[in-house]
Amino acid sequence: MAERIVLITGGAKRLGAAVTNLLIEKGCFVLIHVRRSVAEAEELLAGANKKFGRVCGSVLQGDLSHQSDVDSMLEWLNGSELIREHGLFGLIHNASNYAPVPIGELTGEDMDDLYHLHMRSPLTLSNGLFESLSRGQGSIVGIIDTSWKRHWKGLTHYTATKAGLRQMLTNLAGEYAPHVRVNSIGPGAILAADWEEEHFQHVLGNVPMGRPGNPNDIANAVLHFLETNHLNGIFLPIDGGWDLNMNQ
Ligand SMILES: NC(=O)c1ccc[n+]([C@@H]2O[C@H](COP(=O)([O-])OP(=O)(O)OC[C@H]3O[C@@H](n4cnc5c(N)ncnc54)[C@H](OP(=O)(O)O)[C@@H]3O)[C@@H](O)[C@H]2O)c1
Repeated sequence: MAERIVLITGGAKRLGAAVTNLLIEKGCFVLIHVRRSVAEAEELLAGANKKFGRVCGSVLQGDLSHQSDVDSMLEWLNGSELIREHGLFGLIHNASNYAPVPIGELTGEDMDDLYHLHMRSPLTLSNGLFESLSRGQGSIVGIIDTSWKRHWKGLTHYTATKAGLRQMLTNLAGEYAPHVRVNSIGPGAILAADWEEEHFQHVLGNVPMGRPGNPNDIANAVLHFLETNHLNGIFLPIDGGWDLNMNQ
């Protein structure tokens, strides 16, 4: 059987690590992209290699807000013997930077950084890996959020570029069909960032399920999208029903 090779951006920690671990458990070879978390990715892989008695993946590094890093990553990926032989089974756009900036202090550079991270790099990687994905009967999964149509204080740069990513992936689902499927997931409150514990608890007050999601909920949905051959152009919220209370 052909090796199922998946690239995940920001795949060493938190939700990314849950996706990486599940894909490895299901037999995939995971290319774990990191910006800084090289040690965490290597530790995750060392544990997996030992547990499953095989080489479960490798690590590649780059800052997705820098075009030169994205170009180098693509050159490496498209030159990889493994990808040439098997194609790519998955590309998961997971990397993100979720940090507030008061609206009066938001600069063009802040917008450019997140535009690059959430939109330009996912587009460059998707287009640059299209041929490998097509050969590997692969698909793309974007990890977005539930900010669509909501006001999230201090997060204009984040919510606007996530909305852009969501629409871009919807469009690519049509552009790439019938060769490569494209879907996306909108996690609700799953794991709080270190700066937002209070806000996170407030959000949970409006979530009908009344509790945070589990990173494995996101990982299971990614696997489902990768393995279900007729799913295309879907946006799946995984938010405990938060959308039911849209205005709260
Ligand atoms: N956590 C939640 O409850 C929640 C809710 C809604 C949506 N989401 C979405 O789900 C995804 C995963 O969430 P998370 O909380 O696990 O994410 P996270 O910890 O905020 O970020 C994931 C990874 O993105 C990488 N990253 C950040 N800036 C980068 C850059 N300039 N270039 C390359 N990589 C960069 C980091 O890699 P390094 O560690 O290597 O630097 C980081 O570990 C994100 O897309 C997030 O927006 C999460």
